[in-house]
Amino acid sequence: MLQIQFSAADLPAGGVLALLVAEDGPRPPLFAAADAATGGALSRAVAAAAFGFGSGRTCMILAPGGGFDRVLLVGLGKSAEIGVRTVETAAGAAVTALGKLAESATLAVDGVPAALVAHAAHGGTLAAYRFDHYQTRIPEDARWRLDRLDILTPAAAHAKAAWAGLSAVTRGVCLTRDLVSEPANALRPPEFAQRIEALHELGVEIEVLDGAAMAELGFGALLGVAQGSDAPPRTVLMRWNGAGTDEAPLAFIGKGVTFDSGGISIKPAGGMEEMKTDMAGAAAVVGLMAALAGRKARVNVVGAVGLVENMLAGNAQRPGDVVRTCSGQTIEVINTDAEGRLVLADVLWYVQDRFRPRLMVDLATLTGAIVVGLGHEHAGLFSNDDTLAQRLSAAGEETGERLWRMPMADAYREALRSDIADLKNVGGRPAGAITAAKFLEYFVNQVPWAHLDIAGTAWAKKGVPCTPKGASGFGVRLLDQFVREHYEG
Ligand code: BES
Ligand code: MN
Ligand code: ZN
Repeated sequence: MLQIQFSAADLPAGGVLALLVAEDGPRPPLFAAADAATGGALSRAVAAAAFGFGSGRTCMILAPGGGFDRVLLVGLGKSAEIGVRTVETAAGAAVTALGKLAESATLAVDGVPAALVAHAAHGGTLAAYRFDHYQTRIPEDARWRLDRLDILTPAAAHAKAAWAGLSAVTRGVCLTRDLVSEPANALRPPEFAQRIEALHELGVEIEVLDGAAMAELGFGALLGVAQGSDAPPRTVLMRWNGAGTDEAPLAFIGKGVTFDSGGISIKPAGGMEEMKTDMAGAAAVVGLMAALAGRKARVNVVGAVGLVENMLAGNAQRPGDVVRTCSGQTIEVINTDAEGRLVLADVLWYVQDRFRPRLMVDLATLTGAIVVGLGHEHAGLFSNDDTLAQRLSAAGEETGERLWRMPMADAYREALRSDIADLKNVGGRPAGAITAAKFLEYFVNQVPWAHLDIAGTAWAKKGVPCTPKGASGFGVRLLDQFVREHYEG
C-alpha cells in the first residue's frame, strides 16, 4: 500500500508537489506560498492553461522553479460542495497523474475541512492499487513508482486519528481486489480458504467446513455445483466480535464461485475468462471482515462464503437433477449455469439457522440480467425490509458504490414453480435478476435481508481515479459505511 504521512502545512523545499484547490474563494495558503516560491509560475500556468479547478481536473506544471520538479494542480470544484467524494476523487486523480513519475510526492490539503483530510489518504491509496505481480517485463516508463505520499495539513493530528480507521478499509478493499484479480488456477476453493485464514492475525475467528462437513449438514445444493470439479469445495465462516456484548451479529454472505464455466449448461467461449471474478461477492465479504477487524469496529459480525468451482466432468451435475438443500427444500436444477443461487441457498439458510443474525446481506455476481438492467453504475438491491434497503442505499450514495432497488413482488415466484421439486433454479428470461432474488428469498426464513447483485460492478473495464481498471473491490466501502453509520453503538 502507498505509505501515508501527515505533517504540518509547511511548504517543502522542492520535489514533486500536488495542491488540492477549490475553484472559488481565496487560494489556500500553500498555493500562495508555492506561487511565491516559484516567482508566480503557478498563477501564470493557471492563466495560460485557462485552468478552472473543476472537480477532479488536473494541470501539470513542469520545473516551475523554487526547487520543484513538478507542481500538479488538482481541482476541488465549488468550495460549498466539497465533501468526502470530492476529496477522495481529487487525491485519487493526483496519485493517478503522478504514479509513474516519482517515488514520492507531497500533497497539500490545506484547503479542505479538517474532517475530510484523511479521505485524501483514502482516495490516494485506493488509486495507487495495482495487480501486476504476474508481469515480469513492465517497461521502465510504464512501471508504477509512487510509494510515499506526504500529506500537508493544519489538521495533522485529527487526520492521523481518522486515517487509523480508514486505512483498514483501504486494506480491506485491496484484499478484495487481490482475490478477484487472481486467475482461477491460482485461487480454487482450498487456496481461497487459506487466504481467509490469514485474517486470524486481525482477531477474526475462522472456521472452515470441508466437503464432508457440508455433506453432514445437508448442503446438497452447494455440493451439487461442486461435484464436477476436481477442486474440493469449502464454506468459510468468519466471526468478529467487537461489540463487547453477546448481541446478535450482522451477517454478510458471499457467492464464491472461483470459476464459472456454466457446467454442463456451458457458457459461450467469448469472455468466459471473466468468470474468474465470479467469487467477487465472497471476496467483498472477506475484505469487509478485514476492514471491520482492522479498525476494531464495535459490532458483532459473521461473514460466510460458499466456495466452489463450477466445471464439467463425467460426474458433473446434469440439467434435470434434483438436489436437497440444508433447509429441507428441494430444487430442480434446470440450468447448471444458475449455480450461484444454489450455493447461496445452503449458506444463507445455514447462517440464519446457526447464528440468528439481526440481519443478512448477501453479495453475489449473480446474473447477467442485472448488467443488462443497470450496466456498471449501480448494483442491484433486493430486500424484504424497507429500513435495511434505505440504509444500504444511503451508504451507497455516501461511498459512491451505488445501489438501485429492484421490485420483489411475490408474483415473480410463479416463474420458479417446478413440476417435480419445491422450486426450479431458473425463471426464464423475463426479470432474470428479480427471479434470482426471489429464489434466494426462500432461504432467508423471514430474517431482515438484502441481496446485492454485483455482476455489473465487481470488475471495471475502464478505470476512474479511486478505482483503477480491473477488480473494483465493490461492497467493502459500502458495507463498512453501512455498519459505521448504524450499528456501532
Ligand atoms: N456468474 C454468472 C452471472 C454473471 C454474468 C456474472 C456476467 C458476471 C458477469 C451466473 O452464474 C450466471 O451464469 N447466471 C446466468 C443465469 C441464467 C442461467 C438463469 C445468467 O445470468 O445468464
Ligand atoms: Mn453461472
Ligand atoms: Zn456464476
